[in-house]
Amino acid sequence: MRAQADAGANIAFIKYWGVRDEALNLPLNDSISMTLDAARTTTAVEFSPRLADDVLTINDKPASEAALRRVSRHLDLVRERAGVTWRARVRSRNTFPMGAGVASSAAAFAALTAAAAAALRLELDGAELSRLARRGSGSAARSVYGGYVWWHAGTDDTSSFAELLAPPEHWDVRDVVAVVATAEKAVSSAEGHRLAHTSPFLRARLAQTQRLLPCVREAVLRRELALLGPCIEADALAMHFVMMSSRPPLFYWAPETLALIKAVHLWREAGLAVYFTIDAGPNVHLICEAADVEQVIARVQALEYVREIIVAGPGPGIVLQEPA
Ligand code: PMV
Repeated sequence: MRAQADAGANIAFIKYWGVRDEALNLPLNDSISMTLDAARTTTAVEFSPRLADDVLTINDKPASEAALRRVSRHLDLVRERAGVTWRARVRSRNTFPMGAGVASSAAAFAALTAAAAAALRLELDGAELSRLARRGSGSAARSVYGGYVWWHAGTDDTSSFAELLAPPEHWDVRDVVAVVATAEKAVSSAEGHRLAHTSPFLRARLAQTQRLLPCVREAVLRRELALLGPCIEADALAMHFVMMSSRPPLFYWAPETLALIKAVHLWREAGLAVYFTIDAGPNVHLICEAADVEQVIARVQALEYVREIIVAGPGPGIVLQEPA
């Protein structure tokens, strides 16, 4: 009873921040993202009646107790659905350095969900996989699909799932991640989603996402970066204002984050079509079209405070593989 699946991280153009139901990971707002080709997780799952406990390795090393508990809880959902109690051996590998500032939980839980479901011969469609992956990590709901993805917030477990907006080959966009810090974040996104409710700006941001979502959808469908860019910058800033105005406040930015935001504005004034977005961390994602990526990379490389650059394009969703 084994299977293996590969899935990519995703970068949100309209972010998910704040939950209405923590147990089910039901978000307060719809979100839109691009699944990445260069930041992926491959996970092999083998269920066995002979195992006394679940076993988890990440990049060939035994995982922490906390990581194992989270994975076991997620496997319980899949086991419950298949009507089995067997424990599993889980081997997970990332194609990108952990702690390089690229969130890995979306890729990890999308791959884990798909591999576990396939190992137990559960036949789930995309929406069902998305709902199940969402329970492990909200943003994993979107990594089930490749390319450009819309996650409908919904109001309950059944109505909250992602759907495909356009496949990866629809539009050749690049995400140039300017890594300025590699430390683990001090406050997890789970805690952040909880704190969002304490910000007086939460309602304003949610109202703004309602206006931005159709623009981002149109921009993606029409492949218009000049329409997409201002929307993603507005939403990333609004999300960080909610974070910074939570009680206690969450400051994910480093001084270099603001320096990069200003640099992007200058580059744009000089005629380079590049826009930024920022997740729950200090690193800045520079969004441009493939034709401009070399220019963007050259400019980022010239900044002495950027430690590492990761370049990703739109990638596939879940890919089932032959277990090694
Ligand atoms: O899925 P989580 O709980 O790691 O939350 C993701 C939060 C952001 O990356 C900041 C935004 C998003 O929509 O991906």
